[in-house]
Amino acid sequence: MNGLEEVDAPHVPVMLDEVVGLMRMAPPGPVVDATLGAGGHAIAIATARRDDDSGGVVLGIDRDPDALELARQRFAGVAGVELATAQVRFDHLAEEVEARSWPGVAGILVDLGVSSMHLDRAERGFSYRTDGPLDMRMGPDAPRTAAQLIDEVDVDDLARILRDHGEERHAGRVARAIVAARPIATTTALAEVVAAAMPPSAAGRDRGHPARRTFQALRIAVNGELDALRAVIPQAIDVLVPGGVLAVLAYHSLEDRIVKRAFADAASDCSCPPDLPVCACDTVPSVAPLVRRAGRPGAAEVAANPRASAARLRAVTKLELP
Ligand SMILES: C[S@@+](CC[C@H](N)C(=O)[O-])C[C@H]1O[C@@H](n2cnc3c(N)ncnc32)[C@H](O)[C@@H]1O
Repeated sequence: MNGLEEVDAPHVPVMLDEVVGLMRMAPPGPVVDATLGAGGHAIAIATARRDDDSGGVVLGIDRDPDALELARQRFAGVAGVELATAQVRFDHLAEEVEARSWPGVAGILVDLGVSSMHLDRAERGFSYRTDGPLDMRMGPDAPRTAAQLIDEVDVDDLARILRDHGEERHAGRVARAIVAARPIATTTALAEVVAAAMPPSAAGRDRGHPARRTFQALRIAVNGELDALRAVIPQAIDVLVPGGVLAVLAYHSLEDRIVKRAFADAASDCSCPPDLPVCACDTVPSVAPLVRRAGRPGAAEVAANPRASAARLRAVTKLELP
C-alpha cells in the first residue's frame, strides 16, 4: 500500500519504491517535493512517513498551477497527511522553507523534467507527436514560449542551444533550417522542419524521432531548467537537517552530470584547485552519498512505464556539522 490505490494516476511516479525507501531513512519532520507534479511521489512519501510516525507533512513546489491543483485534489483524499503548496521555480526552495519558519526539512525530492500531463496535453506544446501551439512553458513564470524564442534568437545562438541543451549533432544545419522556416507556430510544423533538415546519414543512427533532441533543447532553454537545477542543489543541502535526505531523479545526461558534480563537490573534503600538490583548504563535507552510483529502474518498471527508462536516481544525506 502506498496511498495511491484510491487515486487515478495521470503521471506514473518513477522508481517509487526506491524513492520512498530513501525518504523513510530521513528523520521525523516535514519533507519537500520540489517537483510536485500530480503528487504521486509526494502522496506515497507522506503516507509512508505518516505510518512510520515521521510526520505526513509535505511542501509541494511546482511552477505549473495545473499540477498543483491536481496534486491538491489527490492529496485531499488521503487521511493523515498534509500538503502545503508553492507555485514557484524550485530554486526558490530555501525562501519557501524559511517562510514557513521550519528549522529545517527532513527530506527533499527533485524529480526533474516534464510530467505526463505536459506531454499528453497537445495544447502545452511539448510533444512532437501531437499537434499543438509551440509553447513548452512549464508555468507562467517562463518569460517566453518556444515559438517566441525561435523568433527572437539568431542562428548561432539557436545552434548553441541545440548543441548545449540537446546534444544535437547537426545543430548548425537544424538551426539554419528553423530560422529559414520561421515563424513556426506549431509542434508538428517544427518537427517537420527538423526532420527535413537531417542529413540522410542521420537516419537510423539516432534513437527515436529526429526532432527529439531539438524539442529537449528548446524545452530546457524556454524553462531555464539547467540554471534552476544548478541553483537548487546547494539550497536543498543547506535547508536539510542532519540526517536529512536529498534525492534527485534525472532523465538525461545533462541533468545527471550537474547532479553528480554537485553531490561530489558537497561530499568532498577538499576544494583546492586540482593542480595544487597538497590540500591547503579546510573544507568540511556537508553530505555523504547514500548510493554509490546512480540507481536505474528495473526491467519490469521500464516495461510497464517506458518513460522511466532514462531515469537515474542519486541521493545524499546531510552530515552533522562539526
Ligand atoms: C517529472 S514531473 C514530477 C512528477 C511527480 N514526481 C509525480 O509523481 O507526479 C516534474 C514536475 O516538476 C515541475 N518542474 C520541473 N522543473 C521545475 C522547476 N525548475 N521549478 C518548479 N517546478 C518544476 C514540472 O512542472 C512538473 O510538474
